[in-house]
Amino acid sequence: MSVETHQQEQWGTRIGLILAMAGNAVGLGNFLRFPVQAAQNGGGTFMIPYFVSFLILGIPLMWIEWTIGRFGGKFGHGSLPGMFDELTDRKKPWAKYLGVLGLVTPLVVFIYYTYVVSWMLGFSFFSATGGYFGLGQVGQMRHYLYSFQNIFDSSMHGGWLALLFFILTLVFLGWVLSRGISGGIERLALIGMPLLFLFAVVLMVRVLTLPAVKASPAEGLNFIWNPHWTSLADPKVWLAAAGQMFFTLSLGAGQIHAYASYLDAHDDVTLTGLSTAATNEFAEVVLGGTIAITAAVVFFGVSGAVSIAKGGTFDLGIVAMGVVFQGLPGPQVWGQIFGVLWFFLLFIAGITSCVALATPTISFLQEEFDWTRQRASYGVMAVALLLGLTQVVFYQHGFMSEWDYWAGTFGLVVLATIEIFLFSYVYGIDRGWEEMHHGADIAVPRVFKPIMKWVTPAFLVLLFAWWGWTEAIPTFLMHGVTNRADIPYRWASRGLMVLMGLVGLFLIRKAWRNKTLGPAEL
Ligand code: PHE
Repeated sequence: MSVETHQQEQWGTRIGLILAMAGNAVGLGNFLRFPVQAAQNGGGTFMIPYFVSFLILGIPLMWIEWTIGRFGGKFGHGSLPGMFDELTDRKKPWAKYLGVLGLVTPLVVFIYYTYVVSWMLGFSFFSATGGYFGLGQVGQMRHYLYSFQNIFDSSMHGGWLALLFFILTLVFLGWVLSRGISGGIERLALIGMPLLFLFAVVLMVRVLTLPAVKASPAEGLNFIWNPHWTSLADPKVWLAAAGQMFFTLSLGAGQIHAYASYLDAHDDVTLTGLSTAATNEFAEVVLGGTIAITAAVVFFGVSGAVSIAKGGTFDLGIVAMGVVFQGLPGPQVWGQIFGVLWFFLLFIAGITSCVALATPTISFLQEEFDWTRQRASYGVMAVALLLGLTQVVFYQHGFMSEWDYWAGTFGLVVLATIEIFLFSYVYGIDRGWEEMHHGADIAVPRVFKPIMKWVTPAFLVLLFAWWGWTEAIPTFLMHGVTNRADIPYRWASRGLMVLMGLVGLFLIRKAWRNKTLGPAEL
C-alpha cells in the first residue's frame, strides 16, 4: 500500500532532477556561509582542508546518500526511519529510531533556515525601494540589519516586518510543496536555477570589473586562492572546512535521500550524484567565493573584509554588500538593481533548499500516516510557523545559534557517521557498491570502495575526537557566550530541539505499531 503511494510520484525529467538536486545543495551556504568561513579561516588557508573534505567526505557521502535514498524508495520510504530499517534488512529494531535524526535535523534546519531566507526577500524589497540607501557606513548598515532581526527594535523598521516576510515565505513554500515533486519542486528548480546562475554571473562580472577602492579585485581573488600550508596543523580550520562541506552539500540531513527516493529503481545515481556535487562546488567556490569576498576586499581591503566577516555569517553578505551597493559607480538606481539581483539570488538559492529540507517530514507523514500531500505540506508549514515564532521572538538571545550549531553543524556529522556505518558495515560495502552501480551511467573509481569503508569513517571519528578534545565541553557549557543573560534562553532553545526529537521518536514508534497491526490483520 505505502509502496504505491510513494511510487505514484516521480521526477519528470533528468534535467529537472539534476536542477532540483542542485537547488537542494546550492543555498545560503554557498553565497553567505562559505565566504564567511573562508575569510574567518584565512582565505586560501581554508581551501586545502576544504578540498580534502570534498574528496573524502563530500563525494563518497553524496553517492552513499543517493544510493540509500533510491534503495529506500523501492520499498516506499522517503525518509530515514524506513530507509534505515530496510538497510538493516528489518532485523534491527533500533535502526529505525536512529532515523529520527533524518526527521528532526532537517525540520530544525528548515525552520531557522527559512526564517533567514525570508530576510533575503525582505532585503530584495529594501533594495528595490532604496530603503538602506544613505546608510553608507558599516556601522549604520549593521544597525539596519540588527533592527530588522530584532522585532522589538523598531528604530529602523516596523517591529513586525520580519515576521511578515517569514509568513509570506512559508505560504509560498506550502503552495509549492503541495503541488508535488515534479509539479512543484521540479518546476521551481527549472525556473529558479537558471535565474540564479544568470544573476550570479552578472554579479560576478560586475564585481570583477570594479575600480579599486581600498584594493583591486585581483587582491580579493589572491586572498582566496593563495594557500598557506600552515593551516594543515590547525584542527579548527579542519573542523570548519568539514562542517562547511556537510552544510553546503546538504549531507547528513536526510533530504538528499528524500529526493533520491523519488527516482525509478533503475535510474542512475553515480553520474547524477557527481553532477550535483560538482554543480554545487562551482556555485560555491567560483560564484560564492568571488562575489562577496572580492567585493568586500575591494571596498574594505583584505584586513577590513576579514574583520567584517568575524562579525558573523550575515555581516559579509548583508552588511558589507549593502555598503558596496551604495558605493557602486554610477547613479543610485544601479546600486539598487544590483542589490535586488544579489538578495533575490540569495532568496532563490535558499528557497530551493527549503523545499528539500521540508521533504523528509512531508514524505514521512504521507507514507507512514497516509496524509495527503496537501495536508502534509501545509501542516508542516503550520508547525514551522509555530515553532519558528520562538526563532523570531528570541533571535537576539542566541536561539538561532543553538539550532544552527547542534542541528545545522553537529547533527549533520552525527547522522552521516551513522549512515556510513550502516551502509559500509551493516548492509555491507559489497552489497552497497553493487546497489550503487545498479543502472549506473559511470563506474565509480574502485578506490572509493576502501575510502567508503575505511577512510571516510576514520576521518569522521577523527573529527569527533578533535571536537571532543577541543570544543565539546566549552560549547556544551556555553563558555563562549558573552551575554550571560542569554544562557537560559539558549537552554530553552536546546530543550525545544530535544522535545522535537522525542516527538519524532514517538511518531516512529506509532508508525511501526500501525504497520505490524497492518491493514490485513485489522
Ligand atoms: N545545502 C544548503 C545550503 O548550502 C542547505 C542546507 C543546509 C541543507 C544544511 C542541509 C543542511 O544552504
